[in-house]
Amino acid sequence: MGPRAALLLLSLACSCSAQKVKVRAEVTGYVGQDVTLPCTYSPDNSDIKITQVTWMKETGGKKTNVAVYSPNWGKNLPNPRISFLKESLQEPTLVIKSLMMTDEGTYGCEFATYPDGNEEGTTRLILLAEPRNSAAAVPGAVGDAVGDREITVANCTSANGKPPSDITWQSVLPGNVSTRVINNTDGTITVNSQYKIFPTSEANGKTVTCIIASRTASVPQNIPVVLSIQYPPEVRISGYDDNWYINRQQAELTCTASGNPPPSKYEWKTASGQPLPNTVDVVGNLLVVKTVDNLVNTTFLCQATNSLGTSSAQLEVLVRASPNTAGAGATGGIIGGIIAAIVGIAVVATVVMIWKQQRKNQTLKDDDDLEGPPAYKPPPPSVKLQPQDMVPVHKESDSEESVPLKPIPFESLSRAEVDSEMQNMPLYQDAYGDQGLEHSEHMPSTEDDYLEQINPIYNDLSYPATDHYQDSRGFVMSKAMYV
Ligand SMILES: *[C@@H]1O[C@H](CO)[C@@H](O)[C@H](O)[C@H]1NC(C)=O
Ligand SMILES: *[C@@H]1O[C@H](CO)[C@@H](O)[C@H](O)[C@H]1NC(C)=O
Ligand SMILES: *[C@@H]1O[C@H](CO)[C@@H](O)[C@H](O)[C@H]1NC(C)=O
Repeated sequence: MGPRAALLLLSLACSCSAQKVKVRAEVTGYVGQDVTLPCTYSPDNSDIKITQVTWMKETGGKKTNVAVYSPNWGKNLPNPRISFLKESLQEPTLVIKSLMMTDEGTYGCEFATYPDGNEEGTTRLILLAEPRNSAAAVPGAVGDAVGDREITVANCTSANGKPPSDITWQSVLPGNVSTRVINNTDGTITVNSQYKIFPTSEANGKTVTCIIASRTASVPQNIPVVLSIQYPPEVRISGYDDNWYINRQQAELTCTASGNPPPSKYEWKTASGQPLPNTVDVVGNLLVVKTVDNLVNTTFLCQATNSLGTSSAQLEVLVRASPNTAGAGATGGIIGGIIAAIVGIAVVATVVMIWKQQRKNQTLKDDDDLEGPPAYKPPPPSVKLQPQDMVPVHKESDSEESVPLKPIPFESLSRAEVDSEMQNMPLYQDAYGDQGLEHSEHMPSTEDDYLEQINPIYNDLSYPATDHYQDSRGFVMSKAMYV
């Protein structure tokens, strides 16, 4: 190592001299509590002499001494709440008691040394104040909304905090939030947030949650608020079964009304304004008829009232000479209709299937010049089959790409489509359903064994198996057509 390099290293070491003063960059404290601002000096050279230490507070670019210590002259502590932890030139840690909001600021710990001169480290003191959080529903009424105006339905406040809290809302109700921040004279900040919606009766009883995040809490605080929206009664009459007949015993109508506040008064009337027939008893929100007669052949009206208003619903009762059986009949009719529809679909499907098979039969017969159904006489190996019949079953069912390669034996397009669809299926699928299809996809080479397994009767009907694939293919087709 040459002298130049040594010099460079030395100068690098010297650039670190500022770190001889060790302080914390930031210290936090709560109002009313005490805080310590650590400060130490570690000289890299025992020849360095410290003559005095000074703590200064920096406000608006102006520095004020808050604590001075010199072994020769003693201490100077102008603020009775501010002192040194101990009398020490190497460790002049500062203590501030009963923190006040005004104590917040930047504090410099400065050492007067010889021969290096002054050395300083600074600490930012941040005052925290724990906010008081609260949230509540703001009672509103449906009628309060004038035109498009939204109303405040929940109010959330994080008061006297520092730094200011962050308030958000969680809700299933679409709404708008308006937030105000207030700088209090004591240096704390109050944050208020309001949740606004267009008031509806559906919003009553719904919950919105105020979420308050603050530096003084490790997790945000959630305060659920149940909304209270007042609305006039919403009335409904239930219990009418459309089967009120002369001399029926015990018929009832129920009047239910929602509302906020809950409706306090129910009133049954006739819609025409006539007094209620004397065969009718009113029990709270129930209208009870002991024995049905012509007098109740009328329209009833139920009125419910709360502090926001009165609403009503009406129901027309039809008194019949004899019990109404149409209700039961109608139910039976629906079930019958469903059954008829299912049977009908099955019949149509069967007919279509038979027709298709017969078309196939016919085509084969024409092309192959065979007599009688091929089920009994499979074509001999020498007979030329139609190309689509020679394509192995599994290939046909695997992909539609093979379809356009095959000749379309019929003149009209729609018919051709129908038939190409048929060709895509294994021909015995109609007889054996999905099992046959799956079988042909996974194990196409054993399809005949499979068929013989599931119905041995075909063994009796079949010709002795040959090695020729076309033969066995024709044989399979024959079985399907036989069914
Ligand atoms: C929220 O405020 C916007 C703009 O003022 C308004 O268009 C919207 O309708 C308000 N939505 C609700 C739910 O209050
Ligand atoms: C509150 O204080 C902040 C910073 O301390 C300032 O930016 C803001 O303008 C003040 N707000 C009011 C309403 O005085
Ligand atoms: C009830 O009134 C209706 C007309 O509103 C009428 O058609 C019906 O015959 C009446 N029932 C009886 C039993 O009088």
